[in-house]
Amino acid sequence: MSRGLIFDSGVGGLSVTADIRARLPELMLDYAADDDFRPYGDKTPAQLEARLPGLLWSLRDMLGSDFIVLACNTASTTALPAIRAVLDVPVIGVVPAIKPAAKASQTQRIGVLGTPGTVAHQYVDGLIEDYAAGVDVRLQGSTALVAQAEAKLAGQAVDMEVIARELAAFKGLMPEVDQIVLACTHFPLLEPELSQIMGSAVTWVDSGDAIARRVQSVMREMGLGPSPQSARQTAFTTGADIGPTRQRIFRSYGFDRLVSLSP
Ligand code: DGL
Repeated sequence: MSRGLIFDSGVGGLSVTADIRARLPELMLDYAADDDFRPYGDKTPAQLEARLPGLLWSLRDMLGSDFIVLACNTASTTALPAIRAVLDVPVIGVVPAIKPAAKASQTQRIGVLGTPGTVAHQYVDGLIEDYAAGVDVRLQGSTALVAQAEAKLAGQAVDMEVIARELAAFKGLMPEVDQIVLACTHFPLLEPELSQIMGSAVTWVDSGDAIARRVQSVMREMGLGPSPQSARQTAFTTGADIGPTRQRIFRSYGFDRLVSLSP
């Protein structure tokens, strides 16, 4: 039986879960949300490197995961090598979708919307240099949008004024920006609200399906097959909120129960 673990600072990894489930409906998945340490986007690389390898090692040890999907751009850009160094299973990270967005742009001007940590990282500069040479790339970091995505999935109203404020820099460049990379896994969860502000001239580009394809190929390489339909799938949180609304949200993404790991 194969078993994967999806990891994020919160509910962002659910956007990736949806893409993985679409390609691999029978795959047994666990989920872990590091709610107690969120947001990652305003943490230093040193803070994430100090926390994540140990946390992921413990989760893998507890669950017996065959592979891990680090469904978080911030953790992937800052701490992936440190995490891989302590784990003996494949760890699939997220790469901001700068390459496909640059390729698809008619205007040769694109936006990248990530957390402050991700957009400031040299890894993103490298992707721009390698895949978007000659394209005008505008970077925007936001932690407020992470909080709005969490609120939305906790059943609260999204504050459209916050969404408009966080997109103001891109809005001022319209109609030249035709592709915006969602370089944080929380942001696809807000796509209807983002579109409401930016209109239909913008295409939102995320990495969800690319990750799902990567999971497929890692499973093929490892010789892993589908799991029995009856397997129970669990979401864990390092925080304390395991209330009925959150339980319902996780259930709607195929996780039968939500368990708190907080002491
Ligand atoms: N979902 C995460 C990402 O893709 C992290 C959001 C946060 O905790 O700041 O970057």
